[in-house]
Amino acid sequence: MLDFEKIKSIEGWLTKNEALFLFENAKKVAAKNAIVEIGSWKGRSTTCLCIGSQYGKNAKVYAIDPHVGSSEHQRQFGKVDTFEDFLKNIHSYGVAEVVEPIRDSSLNVAKVFDKQVGFIFIDGAHEYEAVKNDFESWFPKLSNGGVVAFHDAWWFGGVRFLTYLLLMTSNNVKNPKAADTIISFEKAPHNHFIDRFYNALFIPYHFFISGFWGSIKMYLFGIAKSPQ
Ligand SMILES: C[S@@+](CC[C@H](N)C(=O)[O-])C[C@H]1O[C@@H](n2cnc3c(N)ncnc32)[C@H](O)[C@@H]1O
Repeated sequence: MLDFEKIKSIEGWLTKNEALFLFENAKKVAAKNAIVEIGSWKGRSTTCLCIGSQYGKNAKVYAIDPHVGSSEHQRQFGKVDTFEDFLKNIHSYGVAEVVEPIRDSSLNVAKVFDKQVGFIFIDGAHEYEAVKNDFESWFPKLSNGGVVAFHDAWWFGGVRFLTYLLLMTSNNVKNPKAADTIISFEKAPHNHFIDRFYNALFIPYHFFISGFWGSIKMYLFGIAKSPQ
């Protein structure tokens, strides 16, 4: 099982619910499919994905990050290079064999990546254009029934706007779920009108219950303010 008390010593923002969510989704991915992570930082979420894969079917995890931080990290910390810490963490957590670190931007990698993907975790740059580009370049590689998950879908307006827009307009997503700040949905070849109805209902649910109230809880308990 995933031991979050241990995982949380890797610096990052992922909460326990989010860590378990990644673990459970990675566990389900078939061995022939890839698990893709966009944005690894120092490896907290990568480790959850890898442990899930190890408990599941040993699907390879591709951890994509240029390791220079996003704009908000560069503003907060100045120049950063997280690659050494990332490598140290995946080795000390015993997951190095499952993961292939790729030190590059998601868009560069998407141009040459030719494997079918079973689960995508998007946690790179959070501006609307950036997250939209990540989604549009990787969603076509996702198998039908595969899951795409977005971190910070409440905290960052760009991610929230894109996920809500997809839920309102896309014919290819269904079964939205939330875990703290994560929103996920499944890829469908063509969703049913009942799926579209449910997708639309999910937005106010998420905004008021999961997002607003969840954020108050997280703020009160100090979870989401800085990496810990
Ligand atoms: C919020 S951090 C990721 C945290 C990590 N997922 C975790 O939970 O431990 C965002 C990361 O996205 C990376 N990033 C920014 N732009 C990217 C891009 N175009 N492709 C891949 N990674 C990117 C940054 O370098 C940074 O390490």
